[in-house]
Amino acid sequence: MTTTPSPSRDAGAEAAEEFLRDFHDRGPGRQSVSGTRARLADGRTGYQVVAGEVAGARRVLDLGCADGALLEVLAAGGAELLAGIDLAERELALARLRPALAGADLRLGRAQELPFADGSFDAVVSHMALMLMHDVEQVAAEVARVLVPGGQLAVAVGGGAVEGQAASLFLALARPYFAAAAPERSMPRLGDGRARSREGLDQLFGPAGFAPVGWSTVLIDLGGAAEQVWESLTEAYYDMVLLDRAQTAALRAEFLTAVEELADRDGRIPAGLRLNVATSRRF
Ligand SMILES: C[S@@+](CC[C@H](N)C(=O)[O-])C[C@H]1O[C@@H](n2cnc3c(N)ncnc32)[C@H](O)[C@@H]1O
Repeated sequence: MTTTPSPSRDAGAEAAEEFLRDFHDRGPGRQSVSGTRARLADGRTGYQVVAGEVAGARRVLDLGCADGALLEVLAAGGAELLAGIDLAERELALARLRPALAGADLRLGRAQELPFADGSFDAVVSHMALMLMHDVEQVAAEVARVLVPGGQLAVAVGGGAVEGQAASLFLALARPYFAAAAPERSMPRLGDGRARSREGLDQLFGPAGFAPVGWSTVLIDLGGAAEQVWESLTEAYYDMVLLDRAQTAALRAEFLTAVEELADRDGRIPAGLRLNVATSRRF
């Protein structure tokens, strides 16, 4: 195994990771509840879409695995040797409780410094996590190192809200609140924008030895009763930490009133989000 020099983190990366660790340690498992509830029109979750891209891979690593929702889907699909890495210990503690992951190698750590030997995986996956990471070139180099030649990469990143539905309405209402947040409730910038686009991912992963990225967009729907949609959206957006109790209550009231007109006859509110799925192969 070649040794990877420990990359130095700049202050922005350090602050972002500290924020993410603290956020996820305070509320582990919350985002996977929404991730499991959100469905494509064909009934699949985003986790199932990513897992489907690496079907047949025997040894799979999940970057930013949190409470193991994607790893559990991979286990059900027949992957034999599963590993995950995350910054947040309490997320990993929940992953360890999943019977399907009893044999998984779950590590506390950074995707920029993978504690795995060269060529130990047939596939590396990530669901809604790569776009939060800094030093993505270093992540790409590490992914290339731990993959076998020909190994697969499948990554889902956020692609924005579907216009005219509850998620975009939520953002339109929430942005002025986020902008007016008190200075003491600030949050660091998260991730590298290049990880959200096909061109950016090519720039990041190409030099590390990956084939041009394949790209598809799926729509997932977090829709349901208004209160449920509010819960899911406020769990999905980290920026909610910027709001105090009174601001959160005011935004909630505005949102619940505004979404009434989107409800169908059963009171169901549509809340579509785009999920971009990037795939590639290590040469
Ligand atoms: C939005 S959550 C998604 C969790 C999970 N993949 C899912 O979709 O349910 C992002 C996760 O990535 C983790 N994460 C962010 N940056 C990381 C890094 N540099 N190394 C390892 N994990 C990281 C966070 O701790 C968090 O658990």
